[in-house]
Amino acid sequence: MNSSNPPQAGEYGGDEVSAIVLDPGYSTTRAGFAGEDAPKSLIPTYYGKYNADGQEKLVFGDDVFVTPRPGLSIYNPIGKDGIVEDWDMAEKVWEYSFTSRLTGAKASNPLHNGLNDISNDELPTDMEVESDEKPLADSPLLMTEPGWNPVKAREKTIEIAMEKWGTPAFYLARSGVLAAFASGKASALVIDIGASNISITPVHDGMILKRGVQHSPLGGDYISSQIRALFKKNSPQPITITPHYLISSKTAVEAGQPPQAKYKTFPAEKAPDATYRALLEERTLSEFKECVVQVWPGPNKLSATGPTGVSNEEMARSSPGRPFEFPDGYNQLFGADRFRVVESLFDAKAAILDSDSSFPTPTQAQTLPELIKASLSGVDVDIRPHLLGNVVVTGASSLLYGFTDRLNHELMQLFPGPRVRISAPGNTGERRFGSWIGGSILASLGTFHQMWISKKEYDEHGANIVEKRCK
Ligand SMILES: Nc1ncnc2c1ncn2[C@@H]1O[C@H](COP(=O)(O)OP(=O)(O)OP(=O)(O)O)[C@@H](O)[C@H]1O
Ligand SMILES: [Mg+2]
Repeated sequence: MNSSNPPQAGEYGGDEVSAIVLDPGYSTTRAGFAGEDAPKSLIPTYYGKYNADGQEKLVFGDDVFVTPRPGLSIYNPIGKDGIVEDWDMAEKVWEYSFTSRLTGAKASNPLHNGLNDISNDELPTDMEVESDEKPLADSPLLMTEPGWNPVKAREKTIEIAMEKWGTPAFYLARSGVLAAFASGKASALVIDIGASNISITPVHDGMILKRGVQHSPLGGDYISSQIRALFKKNSPQPITITPHYLISSKTAVEAGQPPQAKYKTFPAEKAPDATYRALLEERTLSEFKECVVQVWPGPNKLSATGPTGVSNEEMARSSPGRPFEFPDGYNQLFGADRFRVVESLFDAKAAILDSDSSFPTPTQAQTLPELIKASLSGVDVDIRPHLLGNVVVTGASSLLYGFTDRLNHELMQLFPGPRVRISAPGNTGERRFGSWIGGSILASLGTFHQMWISKKEYDEHGANIVEKRCK
């Protein structure tokens, strides 16, 4: 294909070529073909680095979790604010997400497309092996981005897509707008509870209302840090998470009794880095969030007293606890504590303090109710009721048990006048992949083809065309 020709309409939504939709998040990167229901490729955005035979080696995809290689350390190319920090590595992780499952043999570098059975020891360190065909030479690419992505980052993204991957057509869409589309709405107030951030995106007639975009770091990773703080203060004893790779066997113990496990030890020169352990601990924390953690459903804060004079804390204490077993066999019931670890998403004063946490103590301005207020005050007063009538909840951390009940109570308290309606898909896949699904829908619409930025337009106008086209 002559890449200086603009792509023909038939290439976008036609039967022959499906666009690829790439939705890079902080914790996972999702990629798949437009028109499908779910992303075919789901990989961690984290990657590993280690040295062997005097050379630096990289590990991508699920392999990152599998082998505790000597000296393996874990990195993330995206910063805590959800914006790319390390462009070279972001490019590699993203490229891996589609070459490993989607584009297959067309990969620019067959050594790391996951389709070849080459052991890591045999991989050359130079991962930039040139080949003539670029990995997306035949595939239009729609990518998602946070609503607060700076201009420089947007330009860098189209540059990679056009120049490194050779895509014939490109579009960059705000993930909040796409989550609204996934719920069948062109106007909505989108609340995304992800890993690195929570964000509020007002969308009107398919356009982001930039002045109303709000975000703060109280996402899934923050919740994990609150759970860690709880574990430290736990009684009858502090809880240490020991990941599976450090356990050779375990014996069942009664609830609350010390674990009876045989641990694996690694000599210092054979041990993976502390970042590897932290990544695997995060998997246990994620499971804990799914099985144990619960949002106080409201009405009112956990610290408030209910209409009958009984405090909400007391109500929480009297509800049956939930059991959880750790990889080393330690297990116990979690009572009111399971509400406390997420209460600070709504009430900053409820944060469990921990001087070792990498998260500063949250401020009330970072909580969901305040972000929502700030978001709405940034948009035209006439459309506020319409947005409140179309609240869309997305992001995997929004799957926390009781989350939408509490959100509903908070919204009704904040805005007693207008009708509040939350649409939160009950299907977990739709919640986890909201923005990917919206991208899949958008890129397969026949009417979307005039939106693509073609290679020719990019060559003529430069990277800044992304600012003009992708509003
Ligand atoms: N069922 C669940 N209940 C609560 N939290 C969950 C659940 N499943 C996953 N999580 C948490 O959700 C987070 C991942 O969310 P998501 O996939 O939306 O983030 P992301 O898009 O990768 O990150 P970001 O939006 O910050 O860029 C992780 O912190 C994970 O622990
Ligand atoms: Mg996300």
